[in-house]
Amino acid sequence: MEFKKVGVLGCGLMGAGIAQTAATAGYETIVREVSDDLIAKGFAGIEKSLAKFAEKGTLKEQPQEIRARLRGTTSLEDLSDCDIIIEAIIENLETKRETYLRLDDLCKPQTIFASNTSSLSITQMMTVTSNERQQRFIGMHFFNPVPLMKLVEVIRTILTDPTVYEDAVRFASSLGKVPVRTGDRTGFIVNRLLVPYLLDAIRALEEGVASIVDIDNAMKLGCGYPMGPLTLGDFVGLDTTYYISEIMFNEFREKRFAAPPLLKRMVMAGLYGRKSGRGFYDYTDPKNPVPMNLV
Ligand code: 3HC
Repeated sequence: MEFKKVGVLGCGLMGAGIAQTAATAGYETIVREVSDDLIAKGFAGIEKSLAKFAEKGTLKEQPQEIRARLRGTTSLEDLSDCDIIIEAIIENLETKRETYLRLDDLCKPQTIFASNTSSLSITQMMTVTSNERQQRFIGMHFFNPVPLMKLVEVIRTILTDPTVYEDAVRFASSLGKVPVRTGDRTGFIVNRLLVPYLLDAIRALEEGVASIVDIDNAMKLGCGYPMGPLTLGDFVGLDTTYYISEIMFNEFREKRFAAPPLLKRMVMAGLYGRKSGRGFYDYTDPKNPVPMNLV
C-alpha cells in the first residue's frame, strides 16, 4: 500500500506531535480538532518545535515547507480520502467508538484506522466498524514528546490483516521511528513495564524509603534513565498515570498495577504534575522544580 495522505484526530500534545512527525516525513497531513482555537494552539506548539529543530540544523527542509504540508480542520469529512488515520483524541472508549463509527462511513475502503491509545482495547474500538474495516484497524502508540521519542508500538488485533499490519509497520519506519510489534494486550509493551515501575517509585516514597529527589536521582544516575520516575510521572501526567493504572488493574487484577493511595490523593487534589503546575514537584519556576512536601 502507498501512503500519501495522513489524517490525525486530535491536536493536543500527542496529536500535534504525530502530525508534526508525519509532515516532517513528507506526508500531506490533515489534523481534525473540535474547535479552531484548539487547532491554533496545537499548531503554535508545532511551529515552536519545528523552530527548535531548525535552530539545531536537524531538518532537511525549511520549517515553512513542512508547515505547508499541514492543514487543520474541524470537519471529519475532510479526512475521507486519507490513507491512514491516527486517532489521538480523549481516552474515552465511547467517544472513540462514536468517532470511528462516523469515520467508517466517510472514509474510503482502503483507509487504515490506527489508535494512539495507551491503554484502551483496540479490539473494543474496532468492533463498532464494518467487518472489512476491522481487518484494517490497528494501534499505533507514540511517546511523549513525539517529535523526539523514537519508538512506536504497532499493535495488531486477532482480526488485523497481516498485509495491512506489515504496511503499517513500514509506515511507522517511514516516519523516522523505530516500530515494535505487539498484540492488543492492555498496556502493550511499554506501559506494561513502565506503569508498575512508576507506581513502585510512589510506593517507595509513601513507605519512607527515600525522598522525592533521592528516588529520582537514584534511577537517573544509577540506571542512566533520562528522568527519575517521579519527574517522569509529573511529565506524563499523574491523572493519566492513575487512569492507565486503573485500566490495567481492571484487566489483569494484579497488585503491581494498583494505584498507591498517595497517587489517588494527589489526583483528587488536582496535583496532575507539570500540566497543572504541581505534582511531586512544584513548577512555579519550570526550570527549577521544587520537591513538594507530600508524606
Ligand atoms: N520539539 C523539539 N525539541 C524539543 C522538544 C520538542 N517537542 N522537547 C524538547 N526539545 C528539545 C529541548 O529544547 C532541548 O534542546 P537543547 O538541547 O537545545 O536545550 C532538548 O530537546 C533536550 O531537552 P531538555 O534539555 O529539556 O531535557 P532532556 O535532555 O532531558 O530531554 C526528553 C528531554 C527527551 C523529554 C528526555 O528527558 C527524555 O527522554 N525523557 C523521558 C521521556 C519519556 O520517557 N517519555 C515517554 C513517556 S511514556 C508515554 O509517553 C506513554 C504514555 O502512554 C504514558
